[in-house]
Amino acid sequence: MKLTVVGGGSTYTPELIDGFARLRESLPVDELVLADPATDRLELVGGLAERIFAKQGHPGKITTTSDIEAAVDGADAVLLQLRVGGQAARNQDETWPLECGCVGQETTGAGGLAKALRTVPVVLDIAEKVRASNPDAWIIDFTNPVGIVTRALLQEGHKAVGLCNVAIGFQRKFAAMLDVDHSRVRLDHVGLNHLTWERGVRVDGEEVLPKLLAEHAQELADEIGLPREVILGLGVVPSYYLRYFYKHDEVVRELKAKPSRAAEVAAIEKQLLDMYADPALDEKPELLSKRGGAFYSEAAVDLASSLLNNTGDVQVVNTRNNGTLPFLPDDAVIEVPATVDARGTTPLPVRPLEPLYAGLVAGVTAYEHLALEAALHGGADRVFNALLAHPLIGQIEYANGLTDRLLANNRDHLDWA
Ligand code: G6P
Ligand code: MN
Repeated sequence: MKLTVVGGGSTYTPELIDGFARLRESLPVDELVLADPATDRLELVGGLAERIFAKQGHPGKITTTSDIEAAVDGADAVLLQLRVGGQAARNQDETWPLECGCVGQETTGAGGLAKALRTVPVVLDIAEKVRASNPDAWIIDFTNPVGIVTRALLQEGHKAVGLCNVAIGFQRKFAAMLDVDHSRVRLDHVGLNHLTWERGVRVDGEEVLPKLLAEHAQELADEIGLPREVILGLGVVPSYYLRYFYKHDEVVRELKAKPSRAAEVAAIEKQLLDMYADPALDEKPELLSKRGGAFYSEAAVDLASSLLNNTGDVQVVNTRNNGTLPFLPDDAVIEVPATVDARGTTPLPVRPLEPLYAGLVAGVTAYEHLALEAALHGGADRVFNALLAHPLIGQIEYANGLTDRLLANNRDHLDWA
């Protein structure tokens, strides 16, 4: 089995390698290719990856390359985890929206739109190369914004599934709170990527969310950054990305008062790369837990394994709506539990979504549709329309100010701007 990681020079990669090494029974990789244009990083990350495999006795071969065509050639699955423009571009996405009084975030709001515009053409280009080399290969997309990027891939007919670690993070957290093995915990996770709510938590089929909330509401509230009473009142667990909606103005004030997450991550990455350069290091360092990707490797290995081994188990994925949420278009991409087998992902039925959540989901889906139009066809008018449709923006003055800034900050990446 050949697996390719595009963006393999990411400092996240050792997390993934550790997962491949630990979970090699379910995903026996013979050849793992790390592809990245940043050759200096790739060398450091590749070296550590080899040492992790060697330490854990993994017989698979690890290779590194900057040649994307060679990298995807003959791959059974290709994992996309790239970041066009790196942390520098992310830093801009997190900064200029604040000048307009809007949240600056790499996936939510105007910053997320900028990221989508830079990313969709690059990802589609890679996907074409994957298809040309092996039309049966699966594309697993962890590249943000996952909802829009996955929608782009599916719209172009690619064999793609979108992946995020928010759901698996909650599953593991709830399992620890309940003191049960995570394999027994199922989530009623619903919404769009980075816009989800846990409406149910079942252990061996039994609903335990009310008990979980009764016993752990404060801990969850602290972690998500929303008031305990609101979480108890709703009776659901919103993901921490809902804070950008439910506490928008407060978040803007906080973000204005501190360095960007991109700046924080850049500092962590510098330290990580220094560590990776040490030939004595042969495991993922503790410092990696300061990044947001906890359990990403488990989620990625589970997904690849079920697609390639036709297991038919249930995982939370980003997939085509196909009527699952009947108030959305069929081609919208939603994040829900789905069965995963060699044919792909099939969402499980979802009970009707309450108006409190459905309104936001419908609004953000319309934004995602318009964002993809802008990413595919360019044009300041399309950028403006997407921003005007976004539930966090919605006013002409904001949409105008953000459009100007988005274009001014992204000319190097957008040939039409
Ligand atoms: C979570 C999200 C990812 C995102 C990451 C950011 O894992 O699900 O989509 O990329 O956080 O983490 P970072 O360490 O880069 O801030
Ligand atoms: Mn995510």
